[in-house]
Amino acid sequence: MITSNGETAKARPQELRVLVNGISVSVPAGASVAAAIMRSGMPFRRSVSGEPRSALCAMGICEECRATVNGVPHVRTCQRFVAAGMEIVAG
Ligand code: FES
Repeated sequence: MITSNGETAKARPQELRVLVNGISVSVPAGASVAAAIMRSGMPFRRSVSGEPRSALCAMGICEECRATVNGVPHVRTCQRFVAAGMEIVAG
């Protein structure tokens, strides 16, 4: 794409909106659900003693990134792409 001043504009990824604990969060298309939770600032889940937990490995091994996605519990969010309107419950 060429801009009005003749420079070549870089294509930006489309932004999608998802809900994280009911709060609307904007993330680029192709981002992981884990990235959306990180952008929200919410913890991914809590340990049995109540401490906030967060994604660790980002490759589907540690399960620290588990959250409920569209009603499905214990989804490893680092392994899922966001979709418009997705509802995520974390923490
Ligand atoms: S961050 Fe380790 S499984 Fe998702």
